[in-house]
Amino acid sequence: MSPFQITRTLPKDATGAALRADVLSGLTATPKTLPPKWFYDAHGSELFEQITELPEYYPTRAEREILLDRAGEIAAASGARTLVELGSGSSEKTRHVIDALTGLRAYVPVDVSESALIGAGEALAAERPDLEVHALVADFTAPLTLPDTPGPRLLAFLGGTVGNLLPDERTVFLDSVRALLAPGDALLLGTDLVKDEEVLVRAYDDAAGVTAAFDKNVLSVVNRELGADFDPDAFAHVALWDAENEWIEMRLRSLAEQTVKIRALDLAVDFAAGEELRTEVSAKFREDGVRSELRSAGMELTHWWTDREARFALSLSVVR
Ligand code: AVJ
Repeated sequence: MSPFQITRTLPKDATGAALRADVLSGLTATPKTLPPKWFYDAHGSELFEQITELPEYYPTRAEREILLDRAGEIAAASGARTLVELGSGSSEKTRHVIDALTGLRAYVPVDVSESALIGAGEALAAERPDLEVHALVADFTAPLTLPDTPGPRLLAFLGGTVGNLLPDERTVFLDSVRALLAPGDALLLGTDLVKDEEVLVRAYDDAAGVTAAFDKNVLSVVNRELGADFDPDAFAHVALWDAENEWIEMRLRSLAEQTVKIRALDLAVDFAAGEELRTEVSAKFREDGVRSELRSAGMELTHWWTDREARFALSLSVVR
């Protein structure tokens, strides 16, 4: 058994084709939208790291507090021999759980960023020669095949990223997670919680303007990858709370009437002055809602942990 393996499941140019399809459908729709996954090129990932350190952006710190306090309980409740982590990034937050899982035999980090997987995976494999680290370069919103490692499995999806999926997408996603698991396996899910509107809006519109830069970065990604001519300065960052849907929306508001050309799509897109392009939905949750969505997907919520200020929750659910 080699301690570190990497499997690439993304076909060549899968990313380019997916970006072209998303930009074409999103920018020809009314209202205009772009999916949030395209924020995360190298620069966008760096900006997100900066966001996690902003005074206004509490979710990362709140989740880390729970993981630190509850790693032992999470480990004992799951008894996992395989830990699968979707969107593992640097695997930094998960280390507490990995260290607490005494019977752990395999760690399967899944991410679209191969560089993040190699860095984190090799370091962990070097430190823990007893652990099989099998990294998967994959887009977890597409169907996934897991390596053949021992059960029970614990699948972790942290950071509140599940909130970036729209309700229908979330249903499909949770069903697909359930399909990857067997009875007795568990899901560890991070969800940001409904709270005071001002606190939420500030978390997505910080005083230093880092989130504004992150939001506009998606325009630079489209410029570079698809030969578009977006002027990021011709748009303003907007964060608003949708009280009915209980989600935060990030938008880019066109500051003037303008036409943007997207060479790779042979497309010209008109923006009216004040027209808004939706770039992200970040849903906020309540315990009852999480429990019922998981139950519909065939999982039973058994544990619900929050940080001391009850801003963020980690839930553990068992597959029936
Ligand atoms: C990484 C998806 C959890 O929705 O809070 C941060 C992304 N967007 N600031 C979130 C994000 C704006 C973040 N997630």
